Amino acid sequence: MGYVGLPLAVAFANEGHEVTAVDVDRRKVEALRRGESYVEDVSDEALAQTGGRIQATTRFASLAKCDAILVCVPTPLTPNREPDLGMLVGASRELAGVLQAGQLVVLESTTYPGTTRDRVAPILSESGLVAGEDFNLAFSPERVDPGRTDFTMRTTPKVVGGLTPACGDRAEALYSEVCDTVVRVSTPEAAELTKLLENIFRSVNIALVNELAMLCDRMGIDIWEVVDAASTKPYGFMRFDPGPGMGGHCLPVDPFYLSWRAREFDMATEFIELAGKINQQMPYHCVAKVERLLNDASKPIRGSKIAILGVSYKAGVGDVRESPGLKIVTLLTSLGAVVAYHDAFVPELPEYDLRSRPLEDVLDKADIVLIVTAHPGIDHDAAVATAPLALDLRGVTRRSGGHAILL
Ligand SMILES: NC(=O)c1ccc[n+]([C@@H]2O[C@H](COP(=O)([O-])OP(=O)(O)OC[C@H]3O[C@@H](n4cnc5c(N)ncnc54)[C@H](O)[C@@H]3O)[C@@H](O)[C@H]2O)c1
Repeated sequence: MGYVGLPLAVAFANEGHEVTAVDVDRRKVEALRRGESYVEDVSDEALAQTGGRIQATTRFASLAKCDAILVCVPTPLTPNREPDLGMLVGASRELAGVLQAGQLVVLESTTYPGTTRDRVAPILSESGLVAGEDFNLAFSPERVDPGRTDFTMRTTPKVVGGLTPACGDRAEALYSEVCDTVVRVSTPEAAELTKLLENIFRSVNIALVNELAMLCDRMGIDIWEVVDAASTKPYGFMRFDPGPGMGGHCLPVDPFYLSWRAREFDMATEFIELAGKINQQMPYHCVAKVERLLNDASKPIRGSKIAILGVSYKAGVGDVRESPGLKIVTLLTSLGAVVAYHDAFVPELPEYDLRSRPLEDVLDKADIVLIVTAHPGIDHDAAVATAPLALDLRGVTRRSGGHAILL
């Protein structure tokens, strides 16, 4: 019942289905029972409009009466950057305990090719039921893009790969209720890899433009001017913007599921590794630039007051997972800077002993202002106008002719 599960629950409830919403996180279950959403893309009103058709529970037993079960648990990396299927294995075990003949199970969590067939199916078979015979099993990757409004679940094509053709038919019929276009592929593996290709494509292209941004910094060329100009080509070019690094649950994590799997096949996926390396370097590059700007003003970073605008990983959402903003806070703090932040979407960062402060407070007497994530609703030009120094890592002030230095 996270970023992926909750919107799905709402979509199916809106189609008139009774939805059982299972999560091990008691706080989420209690919030849903109170009619409160904790996912930005789902409003409390949207929850209310489902007319009580979503029943939230921590009990897997409730799944026994469902026709279809969609698994949307996290698939993170271990500290050694290897796939951590712990939560998927845990959820699959619980599900095996209540699985019924005739049910459809679809895995939505992003993962390496082979997970549905080689990891999930054997666990579910501990129920005594055979995947593809007694119950249907498929993989269908989620394409939700938190904060996006131009494409919805209904208008975003959904890829589906079944363990057998019948499994695929059943999953296709299910998703056709909430998506206008369902794209069938022949196997769960093809569907699993489709999702990884989409994310690796983004990761590699972001790394390319980030590497160019670092080069432009040395060459004294404005990367934004170059990206803006290249984007005027009507074909053969797709715009990606530089930034302080990659965040979120997906892009910094998912590609490594494939590189891990590829090692079993004697393949080193070098694009993935290289893109990860460059994107991870970006917060260090940004902090080095802060140091340089302060140095030019004859200020040491130790003791300088640094105002950070936006710490979540992208504009308009409060998700701080893998956020480069957190890395920047860590690096600046370790250098002795006095960091304060404003982010209406992230009220506190308990691990950093920091709370979001009102914009005026954060800007007051700051030696330098950093635009790390440009949330909507903030006039960034006005925010940096009176700051002695400003560094804009998102290029949002580039057209105003203000004094902010660009990434
Ligand atoms: N967030 C995105 O934008 C996005 C987009 C596409 C794909 N995905 C993928 O979808 C999956 C879920 O991502 P998310 O962002 O929704 O994560 P999330 O953390 O927001 O939600 C996952 C939920 O699963 C619950 N959970 C953990 N273990 C469980 C268990 N054993 N049984 C039941 N519930 C359990 C957690 O409490 C949490 O509420 C991941 O594989 C992710 O890579 C996410």
